[in-house]
Amino acid sequence: MFKVGIITASDKGSKGEREDLSGKTIIEIVESKGYKVEKYTIVPDEKDMLSQQMIYMSDELNVDLILTTGGTGFSKRDVTPEATLNVVDRLVPGIPEAMRYFSLQITPRAMLSRAMAGIRNDKTLIINLPGSQKAVRETLEYIIDSVHHGLEILT
Ligand code: MTE
Repeated sequence: MFKVGIITASDKGSKGEREDLSGKTIIEIVESKGYKVEKYTIVPDEKDMLSQQMIYMSDELNVDLILTTGGTGFSKRDVTPEATLNVVDRLVPGIPEAMRYFSLQITPRAMLSRAMAGIRNDKTLIINLPGSQKAVRETLEYIIDSVHHGLEILT
């Protein structure tokens, strides 16, 4: 059973000022696929805090997959892709390409997503999902079966 870590990047969410519907949607989708949610956390939009959480989930908790939500747009607090780049060794551009390709058929604004994906230490796949609950559902449901195949190769 694959182990998943979920990180919601949200200043408001981390202060309890906004309910994290996107994180809950990720939990619902991955659990429906039989994955185990090892850790779920809400972190402010701070690059170092986001990177540290990714390192902890990969190196200490040994999760197979880290899914982030939020912080991939243009606002100056949006730093999730940069936090991800800091901790991965190999990029997986096809996953965000596929998400943008699929999402562009729903909204042209999908071109504004700066999402990244990559592999840390040959064991953890990290994927940035968009911030809204709707976009999380659209993108994650589209990629999840192919991601599953990738995780099987990684282990
Ligand atoms: N992808 C899908 N499938 N559906 C959407 O509604 N919204 C886009 C994009 N990707 C969207 C989407 C918008 S409006 C933005 S600004 C970017 O994701 C970045 O979102 P974030 O800043 O919430 O991470």
